[in-house]
Amino acid sequence: MAKQRQAWGTRLGIIMAVAGSAIGLGNFLRFPVQAASNGGGAFMIPYFISLFLLGIPLMWIEWTLGRYGGGFEHGTAPGIFHTMWRKSRFIKYFGVIGIFGPLVIFIYYTYIESWTLAYSFFALTGKYSGLGTQESMQSFLRGFQGLEKNLYFSGLGPSYLFFIITFLANITVIYYGIKGGIERLCKVAMPLLFIFGIIIMLRVLSLGIPDPSRPSWNLTNGLGFLWNPDFSALRSAKVWLAAAGQIFFTLSVGIGVILTYASYLSKGDDVVLSGLSAVSTNEFAEVVIGGSIVIPAAFMFFGPQGVEQVARAGAFNLGFVTMPLIFERVIMGAFFGCIWFLLLFLAGITSSVSLAQPAVAFLEDEFDISRPRAVTIFGIVTFLLCQPSIFLLSKGVVNELDFWGGTFCLVLFATFETILFAWVFGMERAWTEIHHGADMRVPRVYKFIIKYVTPLFLLFILGFWFYQDGIPTLMMKSVPQADRPVVLATRAGLIILFLILSYLVHVAWRKKRRAANFKGAKA
Ligand code: ALA
Repeated sequence: MAKQRQAWGTRLGIIMAVAGSAIGLGNFLRFPVQAASNGGGAFMIPYFISLFLLGIPLMWIEWTLGRYGGGFEHGTAPGIFHTMWRKSRFIKYFGVIGIFGPLVIFIYYTYIESWTLAYSFFALTGKYSGLGTQESMQSFLRGFQGLEKNLYFSGLGPSYLFFIITFLANITVIYYGIKGGIERLCKVAMPLLFIFGIIIMLRVLSLGIPDPSRPSWNLTNGLGFLWNPDFSALRSAKVWLAAAGQIFFTLSVGIGVILTYASYLSKGDDVVLSGLSAVSTNEFAEVVIGGSIVIPAAFMFFGPQGVEQVARAGAFNLGFVTMPLIFERVIMGAFFGCIWFLLLFLAGITSSVSLAQPAVAFLEDEFDISRPRAVTIFGIVTFLLCQPSIFLLSKGVVNELDFWGGTFCLVLFATFETILFAWVFGMERAWTEIHHGADMRVPRVYKFIIKYVTPLFLLFILGFWFYQDGIPTLMMKSVPQADRPVVLATRAGLIILFLILSYLVHVAWRKKRRAANFKGAKA
């Protein structure tokens, strides 16, 4: 008898889970960094255009593809792509990106997530209290990351301990499955996350003018930094790429995880309104809450140049250096600091479990492995794969994984799935498929957008990236000489991982063919 696939418990549960996957470190850390280092208001126009032309269509495409594939008991891209284009022997190998990408993101994301848990503990216990300058807070972070031995940390021990706790928490949630683990986590974590987010937002909005000698460093100008539009930025390809990249990352589209989550729906379940609800929840968390915390706060304390400088100095500075510094200067700062980092932890864990699920679903669906075994295999393999991010952080491993797994693969995968959906599967069938059980109709203009605009936009992004950055990236032009061997080894490791996953797809389909032949021979 065929094994029963898992299913979501409630509709609210799946929306919370997809929103949980979308709302992550990207909303509260990556978004402000991207916005600040791309000129604030200049970033927001391409950001919203990308949301409407890429983000929302891809969300609908992925929910629909996932539900369709789930009907054939496939929860990951190789199987889903195969059911959509049975004539092609190769399409399933393109689907490997949909398991590879989330796996690669998972192995560095979980480590960064563990910092948030550690910092919430440090905030509460006062471990960084009294550090009043960017330099000292920076040094605290570097000590914690094991990049230097200093007054605050003498080695990687504390960091490793929090990593183990975070990693085990992730594995436990996945072990309990879709309904018993992920849905249950998200139903508790998401409301808490919003409560924490709103508390911090209100605190920031009531900061007043922290430095009376600089009255222009105020809330209105801080919000204006993000919201005063700058139309000249529409001519900058770099800003467009950054904005489109942020939309992918924040919505978790192009990764492969939404396909897997949607594969646990049943045929009659709505995807149109649910997909839109997940997008709206994410955008509320990113633009309204995320946009009202880090940037305005940093602006009020450090001024317009200060915000850009801090953002350019590195992705983690705004979250782990600037925010603790700001909380150090407000009343009940330990409490707000703790809430800020707990908010990040909840946002992180509801995303990282979604990044883990495609690989686990692949083992369950295509190899008929039980969930406990699949989770055990996943746990052992990813635990080993996480180690380079921890021990070789200073050598650029995380940047490399983030670029290939968290940026390049997303655009590539989204391009394949959109073309497959709109052109191979066919727009008419696709349109009917989207609307099965739908609670609302998708505006007709999206038929045109999904068929022409989204794929062209994606091809443009890929082409432009290749033209502008392709060769320098491949040649490691911006990588310091000393880090090149490690970066090269990381790339070799990624290629090997991709080949292993492709081989597993090959083996799974060979097994299926043999089983089908055997059945045919018996009949
Ligand atoms: N969508 C997740 C985030 O924003 C990956 O962090």
